[in-house]
Amino acid sequence: MNSSPQHDRICHDLVSQGWTVIDGYFEPELIKLLADECHRQQQLGLLQAARIGRLEQNRAAESIRGDQIRWLESGMAPCIDQFLAQIEALRSLFNRRLYLGLEECENHFAYYPAGAFYRKHLDRFQNSDSRVISSVLYLNPDWVSEHGGELRLHLEEGRYEDIEPVANRLVLFISAQILHEVLPTTVERMSLTGWFRRHGIESSV
Ligand code: OGA
Ligand code: MN
Repeated sequence: MNSSPQHDRICHDLVSQGWTVIDGYFEPELIKLLADECHRQQQLGLLQAARIGRLEQNRAAESIRGDQIRWLESGMAPCIDQFLAQIEALRSLFNRRLYLGLEECENHFAYYPAGAFYRKHLDRFQNSDSRVISSVLYLNPDWVSEHGGELRLHLEEGRYEDIEPVANRLVLFISAQILHEVLPTTVERMSLTGWFRRHGIESSV
């Protein structure tokens, strides 16, 4: 894949400020199919209350986050395969341009029912540094600011950036660097969230 002005901007923003927002990165038709698939899976009860931490420390934590998730697997649906292929292309871009040595991507649907939020956090487990870049792709076609539900990126010196979760908006940020939260949403809110990973050194504690 040749790099485009869009790719130049993504790489430049990640290096210079640690985050970036791109609107319209994917085909609008793909976003619609992904939104329908997320809805379908949610209605079939295939999404599960999200947890925090991992392994035995894993526990449902509604006071911290109220979303429901399902990890994507290839072959789940054609639109998911198409999405995963484009994410793979981004992974190879990051490796070529930023020398990050990213070995894999993991992605899940996230469904926030009305009233849900996710408190301020970093996207890294205490005992692992394998998550390098976080990505969030929003799937909400009729979003208006009155719905709340912004992604708030906490930047230096108390500054913050609020990002509305409108359909086909992709946010990328350095997992270890950017503290962030999801403000309470007043309506259902859907996204595809993922991490570009290298195999970090994981301790057993
Ligand atoms: C997460 C997360 C942000 C969002 O799932 O870790 O921070 O805007 N999501 O959905
Ligand atoms: Mn997060």
